[in-house]
Amino acid sequence: MKYPEISLVGAVVLVTGAGRGIGRATAQAMAAGGARVAVADLDRAAADVAAAEIGSAARAYTLDVRTRASWDACVAAVVADLGPIDVLVGNAGVMPVAPFLDEPDEIGEATLDVNVWGLIHGMRAVAPAMIERGFGHIANVASLAGKIAIPGLAVYNASKFAAVGLSSAARLAFAEHGVSVSTVLPSAVRTTLTSGLPLGKGLPTVAPRGHRGSRRADLPHPARRDARTRLPGRPRPRARRGAGVAGPTGAARGRRRPGSYLRRLGSARRL
Ligand SMILES: NC(=O)c1ccc[n+]([C@@H]2O[C@H](COP(=O)([O-])OP(=O)(O)OC[C@H]3O[C@@H](n4cnc5c(N)ncnc54)[C@H](O)[C@@H]3O)[C@@H](O)[C@H]2O)c1
Repeated sequence: MKYPEISLVGAVVLVTGAGRGIGRATAQAMAAGGARVAVADLDRAAADVAAAEIGSAARAYTLDVRTRASWDACVAAVVADLGPIDVLVGNAGVMPVAPFLDEPDEIGEATLDVNVWGLIHGMRAVAPAMIERGFGHIANVASLAGKIAIPGLAVYNASKFAAVGLSSAARLAFAEHGVSVSTVLPSAVRTTLTSGLPLGKGLPTVAPRGHRGSRRADLPHPARRDARTRLPGRPRPRARRGAGVAGPTGAARGRRRPGSYLRRLGSARRL
């Protein structure tokens, strides 16, 4: 299939989860290639910082990829500010780590909401206008965990296998309209998402490229599991006793607290 060519120079690129990590590095790389970048994130403060780092080629937007309403509002704002979206990078993701049988249902549901429904809503919000124009590209960020099973990551694995299948099928659905879909399957990347995890044991491990000071910026507490989505203006919740979702580094290295994780995700609906 030959798709219409899209020049990055002057293209409007929307990157989700662009407030930090891989998304932020992607937004920087797109801007360096001449694109105008919409830096969208649930964490607006992080998006503001990332967009300011890039400069006049970028603008920050609030987006919760889990809801279609948030997508519609964000896409409308981007189109009004920058013009029609030429490229969507569906990057926002979360990775709770837990023994499969211990993981609370709400954590798994939140993982699927962000990692799978985030991509579904995103494509449904952006693809119709691309199809109408006869061109566009959507890059969905899955993971090597979309192909390889990893102990302690069963639901994350499920979400990323789903992301691979979803993107492959969407690619077939959109091809005849000139809109291409690709799937990115990163290996291990040192970001907030993987903080506290023992990386580099057989997995190729990198830091986000073109991301100044990324190790420091993204791993303020590298020994601790700190992959929770941070929401603007919300204090860090107090630790709760009882069931925690420990990372593979063990409970002693820091526990995930399902209650606080869900409170943070839930409170995003009020943004
Ligand atoms: N880091 C890795 O080793 C690795 C490997 C393979 C795949 N990935 C995938 O790459 C993507 C980015 O990961 P990262 O390591 O940069 O993570 P990160 O935690 O550093 O950054 C993720 C960003 O997504 C945002 N986000 C979370 N939930 C959101 C929501 N509901 N709506 C909008 N934004 C939201 C967060 O605020 C954060 O800024 C994810 O999809 C992840 O699964 C990461």
